[in-house]
Amino acid sequence: MEGLNGGMGTLLEEGARLLVLTGAGVSAESGLATFRDSNGLWEQHRVEDVASPEGFLRDPVLVWKFYSLRRDQAKTVAPNPGHLALAEVEKRLGDRFLLVTQNVDGLHQRAGSERVIEIHGSLFRTKCSSCDLEPYDDHATYFGTLPRCHDCERRGRKALLRPDIVWFGEMLDPRHLQAIDSFMRRDPGSPFVFIAVGTSGAVWPAAGLVNLARSLGASTLLVNAEPAENTARFHQFIQAKSAEALPALFGVSASAIR
Ligand code: OAD
Repeated sequence: MEGLNGGMGTLLEEGARLLVLTGAGVSAESGLATFRDSNGLWEQHRVEDVASPEGFLRDPVLVWKFYSLRRDQAKTVAPNPGHLALAEVEKRLGDRFLLVTQNVDGLHQRAGSERVIEIHGSLFRTKCSSCDLEPYDDHATYFGTLPRCHDCERRGRKALLRPDIVWFGEMLDPRHLQAIDSFMRRDPGSPFVFIAVGTSGAVWPAAGLVNLARSLGASTLLVNAEPAENTARFHQFIQAKSAEALPALFGVSASAIR
């Protein structure tokens, strides 16, 4: 961990827990657009049209088109050295490591990360817009003809299936919040490092995790291409691109990331 600034690398070698929060910036160098940068997804689409339950009610064809295109695109790109460095660090730290991602593209898992909580859902799962059908893996795309819920049909109701994404106005899965909270509070008094990477700090509750981490005594670091909205909350800020910064930060060599 010799690349980590200050005492953080030493802390990790001495048995600290590490929680990493990632956002769209981590996948930028794989070729996926972020949300709020220029040319980002929210410049081309209105959030309320494609990322809210009301938008889906109004125009489900548009919403499925948006996520189908993103499904297609995410399938064609590959994890970058930033994703691979995080998978490598997890191998070293084992259950002292937790990755919380706002990304829905599945690139962390494809890079080999296993302890991943996808707090905003997954592009590659589908669920029912009406009943509590268990979300299931789905790589299909829907342009025009939309998928319907067979469980609802059996009960004489009509309901569309939808992407398993947490939309604006919706709650995060309480089991995810519980798991993050438990990890943060485990072994009180023992060293704890929190790193946020590639995220604008504009969306809650993810943007507030740094506050909880600090209140529990964590050393906190932000790695981002530009200052984030909550930069001031971090002890350290490294302004850099994640595909370069993360391997250097964790001392992961090019051969370890293939
Ligand atoms: P944003 O698009 O808001 O922010 C991406 C951040 O990554 C910006 O601060 C960029 O400066 C930074 N960045 C860009 N390229 C980078 C690189 N190569 N290395 C490091 N940093 C880089 O994306 P998020 O913060 O992930 O929610 O957005 C949070 C949530 O808002 C998303 O999960 C999504 C969105 O609305 C839903 O869709 C539910």
